[in-house]
Amino acid sequence: MGSKIERARRILKPGDRLIVSIDVSSKSGLIGLLKKIGGRVTTVKLGLELIYSLGLDIVETVKSFGYKVMFDGKLMDIPNTVAKAASAIGKLDVEMITLHALGGKNMMAGAVKDLKIQETERLKRRPLLMGVTILTSLDDGDLEEMGFKSGFADTVPGLVKLAIAAGLDGIVCSPNEVGTIRKDFGEGFYIATPGIRLAGDGSGDQKRVNTPGQALLQGADFLVVGRSITGKADVSGAVNLYLEKIEDTMGTYNTIKGKARC
Ligand code: C5P
Repeated sequence: MGSKIERARRILKPGDRLIVSIDVSSKSGLIGLLKKIGGRVTTVKLGLELIYSLGLDIVETVKSFGYKVMFDGKLMDIPNTVAKAASAIGKLDVEMITLHALGGKNMMAGAVKDLKIQETERLKRRPLLMGVTILTSLDDGDLEEMGFKSGFADTVPGLVKLAIAAGLDGIVCSPNEVGTIRKDFGEGFYIATPGIRLAGDGSGDQKRVNTPGQALLQGADFLVVGRSITGKADVSGAVNLYLEKIEDTMGTYNTIKGKARC
């Protein structure tokens, strides 16, 4: 599996692996956080709160501070609509776009196809497309309530299989599922994990959480971290702490696996 993923995973530095999620609704809040992060991470994540509060101009604002953008639009609609939306976002020259794997294989494949056409036409590298599996805020009880016959342990791998078949570049899942996914589907695609918490952090509305160390040791590429950094009084210190933890963990990972991923 994973053979359909075209773009090889690259070696990532700690600052590439940590993606800070900027979940605020004001421009001053956004700029304040970008300054506190201080260019120590490569990419920041802009999600529904910021996009709907401030509009698409925020992408340029964030890029003007030197960051790449993970555009967490979590697209899900009929294939034609999602493909057109992905193309519109692609023109903003973002690094990654998220879409819901629950939208189905045709929806995901349509977005891949249109972004590849755009890449050829614009002669610019297209964004990575990342398929959100089951939100980390949902547990088995929630899935049952929603009518799913299986829990997330079965549902998530099924969605990963679809995402790979559709040609996505990576998936988004809970840190708790990364190990199984790597074992079953290999290493040919990116994994981003939200639901990251340090010991002592509250989990908030997230239910399937784990530490940065566990996520990385199981084979995650990117840690998407919001409140565990942005909710701290010392945001800058929290970024440093995360970067140190990533560096330490990847040293351990490389020793265990006998190869360099960091
Ligand atoms: O504050 P916290 O670290 O829980 O924020 C996680 C971020 O990751 C939020 O912006 C949320 O929208 C996003 N996300 C998520 N679960 C997914 C995909 C994205 O929590 N499956």
